[in-house]
Amino acid sequence: MMYDTVIVGGFGHVGLPLAISLANKGQKVCAFDINREVGDLIEKGQMPFIEYGAEEILKEVINRQLFLSYDPKVIKETNTVIVIIGTPVDQHLNPELDPIIKLIHDYLDYFHDEQLIVLRSTVYPGTTEKVKNWFHQYGKKVDVAFCPERIAEGYAMEELQKLPQIISSFSDKGLERCRELFQLLTDDIICLEPIEAELSKLFTNVWRYIKFATSNQFFMIANNHNVDFYRILHAMTYNYKRAEDFASPGFAAGPCLFKDSMQLAAFNNNNFFLGHSAMLINEGLPNYIVSKLKEKHPLHSMTAGILGMAFKANIDDKRESLSYKLKKILMFESKCVLCSDSYIEDEKFVDHDTLISQSDIVILGVPHTQYKTITIPKGKIVVDIWNFWGNGSVV
Ligand SMILES: NC(=O)c1ccc[n+]([C@@H]2O[C@H](COP(=O)([O-])OP(=O)(O)OC[C@H]3O[C@@H](n4cnc5c(N)ncnc54)[C@H](O)[C@@H]3O)[C@@H](O)[C@H]2O)c1
Repeated sequence: MMYDTVIVGGFGHVGLPLAISLANKGQKVCAFDINREVGDLIEKGQMPFIEYGAEEILKEVINRQLFLSYDPKVIKETNTVIVIIGTPVDQHLNPELDPIIKLIHDYLDYFHDEQLIVLRSTVYPGTTEKVKNWFHQYGKKVDVAFCPERIAEGYAMEELQKLPQIISSFSDKGLERCRELFQLLTDDIICLEPIEAELSKLFTNVWRYIKFATSNQFFMIANNHNVDFYRILHAMTYNYKRAEDFASPGFAAGPCLFKDSMQLAAFNNNNFFLGHSAMLINEGLPNYIVSKLKEKHPLHSMTAGILGMAFKANIDDKRESLSYKLKKILMFESKCVLCSDSYIEDEKFVDHDTLISQSDIVILGVPHTQYKTITIPKGKIVVDIWNFWGNGSVV
């Protein structure tokens, strides 16, 4: 076989760091994808998004251990295929299964009996079994596995080797093959049944989403009474072990937590009050901030500036960022909206000095480290729900 591993979706936020890591462990890896624009950058040894520590290794492995392809025929050239494409929810917040079904149909001819097919995307529970059944119905005697990705975007290169790997398959042989693959990254391996592994990934993300929602709800309760939640948070968590993992309030967003909470809700016939409440609280935070600003200031005649548009600190990913939702609401409610982000290129954005000097209200959208030393002149209204600048969070 030409490759040890082929990664379908190998240019993505999850696929590329894994491809680089496996190549760095000596595997001959082919990253197969359909996005040529991104592929052109990777080919030159450039990371298409921020992933700390990845570019140095990419430059070493590209066209030596890591190869790129746009031709699905490469799937034939391996015994191990890892699939990591997006798994969104649709406009009714139901899981969108079409991308995976389409992928199997489109590339069916290239899969063969000797293969291990590892689903690494976060999937609606039961998908792995369906995928196995589809392959077997089509006469492909492949081993199908589900081995979830649990990295935090931006920190994959470190976490891929640090985090235990959860593996699951339908046969001992499938499981052994998964173990061999992921032992390249770590010896810390946990075996589950596929349905357990699917739920473990969703529970992990939804748990995090609920933690953020709890904090955001408490923040809003305190703020409704003009009390700074961070003074309470400090008292709750300082030298108090049982509360030390209490999350900080802030925009809880990104391409995973919301949609994975909705996948879990759909799996439980929409009987998921906790998940739906978390969604309403987290998604409602931008509206809450704007309504508070409207109560206290003549917002319609003011310029609002949003500093930080990425979905979390110190990365350039804007997918499902709540700063964009905030922008949309402010465009309706204020005189003018300015946006800035030190990592995201957008010709409509301004630099942070311009944003601060021209805005009546400065809202911190995401606490990128380099904003820490920014000084905001007296007289400006500052909204800092992260308490990043340490002057309190009351809106
Ligand atoms: N982003 C994260 O931090 C993270 C963490 C853990 C798990 N996940 C899960 O991983 C999965 C992928 O997320 P992502 O953020 O990497 O998405 P992404 O959009 O960054 O990457 C997906 C890649 O798949 C490619 N692709 C789509 N259809 C294809 C096809 N038919 N053939 C070949 N390539 C195709 C796209 O071009 C893209 O490069 C999702 O299920 C997500 O929930 C993401």
